[in-house]
Amino acid sequence: MRAIIARQQGQPASLEEVDESTLLTGDVGIDVDYSSLNYKDGTALSGTGIVQAWPLVLGIDVVGTVTDSASPRFAPGDRVVLNGARIGESLHGGFAEKARVAADSLIRIPEPISPLRAAAIGTAGFTAALAVLALEDAGVQPGDGEVLVTGAAGGTGSVTIRLLAARGYTVVASTGRAEEQGDYLRTLGAARLIDRNQVSTELGKPLQSQLWAAAVDAVGSTTLANILAQTNYGGTVVSYGLVQGLDLPTTVLHFILRAVTLTGANSVDAPLALRERAWALLAETLDLPALDGLTETIGLGDVLAAGEQIQQGEIRGRVVIDVNR
Ligand SMILES: NC(=O)c1ccc[n+]([C@@H]2O[C@H](COP(=O)([O-])OP(=O)(O)OC[C@H]3O[C@@H](n4cnc5c(N)ncnc54)[C@H](OP(=O)(O)O)[C@@H]3O)[C@@H](O)[C@H]2O)c1
Repeated sequence: MRAIIARQQGQPASLEEVDESTLLTGDVGIDVDYSSLNYKDGTALSGTGIVQAWPLVLGIDVVGTVTDSASPRFAPGDRVVLNGARIGESLHGGFAEKARVAADSLIRIPEPISPLRAAAIGTAGFTAALAVLALEDAGVQPGDGEVLVTGAAGGTGSVTIRLLAARGYTVVASTGRAEEQGDYLRTLGAARLIDRNQVSTELGKPLQSQLWAAAVDAVGSTTLANILAQTNYGGTVVSYGLVQGLDLPTTVLHFILRAVTLTGANSVDAPLALRERAWALLAETLDLPALDGLTETIGLGDVLAAGEQIQQGEIRGRVVIDVNR
């Protein structure tokens, strides 16, 4: 089969023809139709990222059709999706024509989502759904005030805006590409935009003017610290990314004086029940034709170049990989 493989720590991955029988193990065999490109895949492709085993088929998302299953939960012909669960990190992933995966985190694609759209959703959309569930589980209501979404034009940010707007929240998009991507972000459902420099460049006071009922943050570091300082009394912030940095230069003041909740979203280790809730939310909420407008499809041969672009923050929305192209 054709696959994109990382052979050695620190070395970029390459597209190869490999013998699947020497590589693949796992309860469920899958003919892969699609994968998708995420920030994490970008770092893995360049040899700098998340990979913990070599050789490894990269790709943190798999969408395809079950060919055989040792698990009674699946039968040949089932259309399935797997996000995270260590694939593309220490277990073989989705940048290949075939995959074998563990059944524990595998999801049957819910109606009315097609395989192509399940890949367009991918880890980014799945994480966006986890973030929305985290806000809703914390009690944030659409009438509470503005919800800030950072990394807005990125894959996860784009789907988060779409989901929140569709569920009635007033969304403010924080972006470094307002001129280029402003119309796109407004079409997704952003009520207004702010320049990301307003929250990313300088670390402000530990308590600032209260602006946000809630926030969903892709960025970390100074950005997350400023957002916490600007969140309303009783508000909730979901952190899921670190594109600016993994540090968090903050104080405890927003916790003890404003009762702000900081919570996380983790697509890799999410248990099956939470995965099913997230995919049900996506099936119920996402305007699927609109998803097509934020999705570009590329072939396996284009993945290495696209991996560089996503690391430079140059990708808009979602990139699907048609592994048979
Ligand atoms: N916790 C999880 O399970 C999970 C799951 C998925 C992703 N993630 C993490 O979430 C982050 C985003 O992933 P993604 O796949 O959505 O990536 P992406 O498509 O590349 O989006 C990231 C966006 O962040 C903004 N950005 C880039 N560099 C920045 C910087 N230095 N300062 C401030 N903003 C910056 C850009 O948006 P604008 O141009 O609009 O500013 C960019 O489009 C990554 O850190 C990824 O590892 C975590």
